[in-house]
Amino acid sequence: MASSICRGIIGNGRRAAELGRSMSTASWWGHVEPAAKDPILGVTEAFLADPSPNKVNVGVGAYRDDNGKPVVLECVREAEKRIAGNLNMEYLPMGGSIKMIEESLKLAYGDDSELIKDKRIAAVQALSGTGACRLFADFQKRFLPDSQIYIPIPTWANHHNIWRDAHVPQRTFHYYHPETKGLDFAAMMDDIKNAPNGSFFLLHACAHNPTGVDPSEDQWREISHQFKVKNHFPFFDMAYQGFASGDPERDAKAIRIFLEDGHMIGCAQSFAKNMGLYGQRAGCLSILCENEIQAVAVKSQLQQIARPMYSNPPIHGALVVSIILSDSVLKSLWLKEVKGMANRIIGMRNALRENIENLGSNLSWEHITNQIGMFCYSGLTPEQVDRLTNDFHIYMTRNGRISMAGVTTGNVGYLANAIHEVSKAT
Ligand SMILES: Cc1ncc(COP(=O)(O)O)c(C=O)c1O
Repeated sequence: MASSICRGIIGNGRRAAELGRSMSTASWWGHVEPAAKDPILGVTEAFLADPSPNKVNVGVGAYRDDNGKPVVLECVREAEKRIAGNLNMEYLPMGGSIKMIEESLKLAYGDDSELIKDKRIAAVQALSGTGACRLFADFQKRFLPDSQIYIPIPTWANHHNIWRDAHVPQRTFHYYHPETKGLDFAAMMDDIKNAPNGSFFLLHACAHNPTGVDPSEDQWREISHQFKVKNHFPFFDMAYQGFASGDPERDAKAIRIFLEDGHMIGCAQSFAKNMGLYGQRAGCLSILCENEIQAVAVKSQLQQIARPMYSNPPIHGALVVSIILSDSVLKSLWLKEVKGMANRIIGMRNALRENIENLGSNLSWEHITNQIGMFCYSGLTPEQVDRLTNDFHIYMTRNGRISMAGVTTGNVGYLANAIHEVSKAT
């Protein structure tokens, strides 16, 4: 419309086209302001733009080897060889690869799970962990429109965006204790008790992001018990199975405790970190139901939600996951490789703490080795992080979260020294 008005007023075709363009830009999208930068992606941009040879990026939540390089697991390479030339690239069904879903469920619920045998779990392949959370949030909104979600403070920032965009109101619950740099168990339990009966809670199954603080097994039992008393719904986000202890079975302990207690859980699984399939977007959403009939209904509704968004999920990552998990040799190789990644991170935690302590720091750095998984919630203030970046070219999010996966034998001494310098000044 804007360009036809312009054509009438101005004879000069070029000017009219230009004006038409600028008017239509102004009228259609002129009100659109640039979106706020994603804090994590912003860190990477700043890191890439820094010419310093000493620069270190401990902002990104992706595993790196001891040379700071991205890793493709051998089991993944082997699975890819089997895929190449052998399998077609047809569409998957709306709910994704049946084989991949079966294998994912065994990982989360246990190889011999009666729930799987009884077909009580509604599950669909999802666009990695993010997609699984979003699908669940949309499902929650569609079928329990008055429900809310309780989210731990702090949490992975995208959790807030996901439930916000699904229009599910958010409440928060205490989780982290800034002084102990550990779990604020008492406050968390109070929040669980004080929430209205039948509330939805988002729980990190293991290797909590960003704090690296997980409840102990006994604490999980108490949490599960209290959930039962209050009839709360536990939704587990399991983005790091295997990354916490090096053993995916052990890392599923929280979920297994809740299952033993008879909870009807939901679970988002991601293969981004534990198989290094970040960009393949391989994940699974599962919802435990009362019986098979309910599970069939729930799955069909999840598919309905997926259909107008992306129709069906991507095939390559799903093939990789199902080949690895269904082949005993490849699965053993995967377990060895996950353990290798987790152990390197644990080694770097020890090295970072030891290096800072050896510099004579009079602060406590115990939390570096107490916390687990990919991240260390260092306790550094935003101002201290700014100094690390400005004076030492060390990049991380301003909440003080260090991605231990970016720490290497080569940079741990430099990092320790910089942390000591900025923390001793206060
Ligand atoms: C807690 C948590 N949940 C979910 C995800 C989702 O990751 P992805 O969508 O890549 O599987 C992440 C990634 O950082 C995460 O830390």
